Amino acid sequence: MLETEVKGKRKLELEEIRRDFPLLGREVHGRPLVYFDNGATTQKPKRVIDTIERYYSLENANIHRGVHYLSQQATTAYEEARKKVANFIGAASDREIIFTKGTTDSINLVAFSFGESLKEGDEILISHLEHHSNIVPWQMLCERKGCVLKVIPMNDRGELIQEEFEKLLSTRTKLLALSHVSNSLGIVNPVREMIRKARDYGARVLIDGAQSVQHTTIDVVDLDCDFYVFSGHKIYGPTGVGVLYGKESVLDAMTPYQGGGDMIKTVRFEKTTYNELPFKFEAGTPNIVGGIGLGAALDYLSEFDMHEIEAHEASVSAYLGACLKEIDGVRIYGESEQKLGVQSFLVEGIHPFDLGTILDQQGVAVRTGHHCTQPIMDFYQIPGTVRASFAMYNKKEEVDVFMNALERAVKMLK
Ligand code: ALA
Repeated sequence: MLETEVKGKRKLELEEIRRDFPLLGREVHGRPLVYFDNGATTQKPKRVIDTIERYYSLENANIHRGVHYLSQQATTAYEEARKKVANFIGAASDREIIFTKGTTDSINLVAFSFGESLKEGDEILISHLEHHSNIVPWQMLCERKGCVLKVIPMNDRGELIQEEFEKLLSTRTKLLALSHVSNSLGIVNPVREMIRKARDYGARVLIDGAQSVQHTTIDVVDLDCDFYVFSGHKIYGPTGVGVLYGKESVLDAMTPYQGGGDMIKTVRFEKTTYNELPFKFEAGTPNIVGGIGLGAALDYLSEFDMHEIEAHEASVSAYLGACLKEIDGVRIYGESEQKLGVQSFLVEGIHPFDLGTILDQQGVAVRTGHHCTQPIMDFYQIPGTVRASFAMYNKKEEVDVFMNALERAVKMLK
């Protein structure tokens, strides 16, 4: 392991880190893989893969239930992982960390449980930039409780219009649910200022960190959000596990989302009492290996300096952005200076699926389509985009391969 003398952190030596991710060494359609679909899911370092294999080979047992050695060992590993998550995002306590299935599950939990305290006419504020998972649960809540959904509009550059946001805020606003970074355009919303403004009206704030936690340093106490949610698999961990951070006092006041084992203190036919945090929100056997695998992913990421990762990814992304602008007929969607991890674009006259298919044939993986953000596509009146999204292991040489493949695809399709 290489270490910088100053920070005691591992230096971002790209060729060395790429060897930590076995999948990056494979070929697709006979070409070395260029994996630019990290917004959909990241590849996994060997440390995570080994942790999962070791767990099922040597350590598998149910947690919080047995006095036997294996059960206690698994419980300790799972609860250690919870502490790692709390540490990674600067939470005040691991009681504030609920393991879920992923970002979508975390948002649905809040929409149900926090939603139970809302009443007819209360307003929930979201933005035009949200992923469907930060739209639909609120629509369902509005139908259930008679609440009103309001939407902060965006401009042509993909930025939220702050004056409109301020106009939409009122004492009726009970919750602002906002993405930190748009999965579709990579726009970074000014969440710190927006949280502060929402607070002035007494609103709670949920930040969707699915596309930010892997790219930049997160400190939930400093942000002062009530909820922060993300997925394990987009931060080098396994699929099927995610995180809901919630302020302890806010979570304490919320009703449980699901009933079952582990979330109770006592069960009588007449009355059940609920467990303390965080277990009150974790009914049934959880994704134990998922939690432990996520802990291993955070251990891996913590070897590096997040500022260095952020700067490196920004330079790869900016390089691709500059190369794209050289191509006739390319339009980049999301032109704000404040971007992280994503370049989304179209080439005039070419359908994004066709472009994605020809790129794939050349070993280049990107996501095409609406990226679960149909309102953004409707805003631009386009069927979708081609989205290149980056991770710590991507390099500028891959951008060169990508550009060659893109130029070939454009020639074929024009
Ligand atoms: N939400 C994931 C994406 O943006 C799947 O691709």
